[in-house]
Amino acid sequence: MSFATISDTYGFFRAWLGDPLRVAAIVPSGRALAQAITAEISADTGPVIELGPGTGSFTRALLRRGVREDDLALIEFGSEFAMALQLRYPRAHTIWMDASRLHAVQLFGGRPAGAVVSGLPVLSMPARKVIGILEGSFAKMRPGGTFYQFTYGPTCPIPRALLDRLGLKAVRIGGTLANVPPAAVYRIRQRQPRPTSDWISLPLMQKDNKQHP
Ligand SMILES: C[S@@+](CC[C@H](N)C(=O)[O-])C[C@H]1O[C@@H](n2cnc3c(N)ncnc32)[C@H](O)[C@@H]1O
Repeated sequence: MSFATISDTYGFFRAWLGDPLRVAAIVPSGRALAQAITAEISADTGPVIELGPGTGSFTRALLRRGVREDDLALIEFGSEFAMALQLRYPRAHTIWMDASRLHAVQLFGGRPAGAVVSGLPVLSMPARKVIGILEGSFAKMRPGGTFYQFTYGPTCPIPRALLDRLGLKAVRIGGTLANVPPAAVYRIRQRQPRPTSDWISLPLMQKDNKQHP
């Protein structure tokens, strides 16, 4: 284990002691989870927004996948983490803020992101905050952009009712037992708008229906 890894682990544990609800894990995510949550991301994804990067486990994986450092926005609420990220990744856009206020900032000079990678503890957040995070994230992404979220729980950490309300669908795309604790990864996307052919066939169906003259 390198000195940087030991120092990150210790710093993370200290942050958890100071604010367990916000940090929500006693050690940073391991390499297997970082690989799983970034598996679908490549240099072609374009700008990527990372929410709650902590000590940068997922940030390192994103860079390894070819995302350019200046195509990364690191949104972190913990000042201890935000300061360290700024020093370690000087070309990335590190912003010390609550991720639920994402709608209020301009990123990448207005270019839309291709993906959002979230390390946020959404299970312990009130629904209002989670709605702000998801709405802000999809507003910052191009159509078809994807939100990736991990969880230590057995199901998607965003409740079904909330996904339905926001027109989103979630699919479990992977997971790993080689993490403390074991974790799963979900891909969340906007539901496809109904295909145009549905709208064209609607009046025909009504015309053929004898109950609707
Ligand atoms: C479970 S840790 C994950 C850290 C890192 N992604 C990892 O996997 O090792 C949660 C992270 O989210 C940050 N965080 C919690 N609430 C936040 C919020 N509202 N806005 C931005 N970051 C937040 C915490 O400070 C912490 O860095």
